[in-house]
Amino acid sequence: MSQIKIFDTTLRDGEQSPGVNLNKLEKLEIAKQLERLGVDRMEAGFPASSQGDFEAVKAIAETIKGTSVTGLARTAKGDIDTAWEALKYAEEPRLHLFLATSPIHMTYKLKKTPEQVIDNAVSMVSYAREKFPQVEWSAEDASRSDWNFLAQIIEQVIDAGATVINLPDTVGYTTPAEYGDMFRYIRETVPNIDRVELSCHCHNDLGMAVANSIAAVENGATQVEGTINGIGERAGNASLEEVAVALRVRADHYPYSTGLKLDETKRTSDLIAKLTGMYVQANKAVIGRNAFQHEAGIHQDGVLKNKETYEIITPEMVGVTANTLFLGKHSGRHAFKDRVSELGVELSEDKLKEAFEMFKELTDHKREVTDDDLYTILMEIQTET
Ligand code: KIV
Ligand code: ZN
Repeated sequence: MSQIKIFDTTLRDGEQSPGVNLNKLEKLEIAKQLERLGVDRMEAGFPASSQGDFEAVKAIAETIKGTSVTGLARTAKGDIDTAWEALKYAEEPRLHLFLATSPIHMTYKLKKTPEQVIDNAVSMVSYAREKFPQVEWSAEDASRSDWNFLAQIIEQVIDAGATVINLPDTVGYTTPAEYGDMFRYIRETVPNIDRVELSCHCHNDLGMAVANSIAAVENGATQVEGTINGIGERAGNASLEEVAVALRVRADHYPYSTGLKLDETKRTSDLIAKLTGMYVQANKAVIGRNAFQHEAGIHQDGVLKNKETYEIITPEMVGVTANTLFLGKHSGRHAFKDRVSELGVELSEDKLKEAFEMFKELTDHKREVTDDDLYTILMEIQTET
């Protein structure tokens, strides 16, 4: 079983979902939960994009110690310097540089020749390596790039010091067979490829992001990038919980594993749904509300006799437990504390006391305090100075 690295970009590509705007505190809460989930790398944001994102990335880099923290940058000195200021106190500062390699992007967006693109990528990777011990370079729109050109630029970028090469399907256009072939071609053609990690990054425009990611792994990718709940630009990114659970459930077929603590999945998914406002569709694979519910009589009968008749994933595997504690007027401090930690939020004793008082006040007006009410209280309490 070879272990695949999980690179979570919920806080960067995920935050690029239309309408999502996370503040520093919200990003920090999500980062702590991603660390508990066990992601290997987390992309905390794009420091040069705004002062707010810079502050959030810096706070995450200073706080998170169990997961490598990275930030995105264009291939420009200003972006790299800004990212360094945000990331320099991280346990293992990592930079994610990207530059487009497809004809359409080079001609219309970058207005650069392929030779200029190679020069820019090589010089900025080597500039970044003067500061960062780990530099990932992404060939944006790789899946619509010429493979021969990709092989040339990758070889040179590795010589310039890149430690991870990522080949994104930026517009969600590829298919599993085609994307897998591209990874195999790069593995077989680029002479120095074994010096780096090879990463996949898929978007879901045609609904194939998870299948494409797994095809990349089967053809030599050692890192999978994606987001929790599959949020992200347009139709979103590959859903990491789906990739990880597919590898676990079909371990008979796939000789790859991830280091994710799958029983933290539900908590992570709920926290992200609440803080981003992007609710998970009921029939979503692995984590949707209906994923463990059975409606048809024949199915119900089967499940009562043996769950495996219709359930291939157990709710426990992904941390779905029946929440039997009703939070209302008569609830005590213990039930409250348990629920807060189930939601994935850590509070100091003082803050917990304050939150409990707010909760009690709310029960004067509301019969049942829901998770949404609790999240509102918890975020309010954390914002107070
Ligand atoms: O989809 C993409 O190409 C990206 C890059 C910035 C890696 O998100
Ligand atoms: Zn992307």
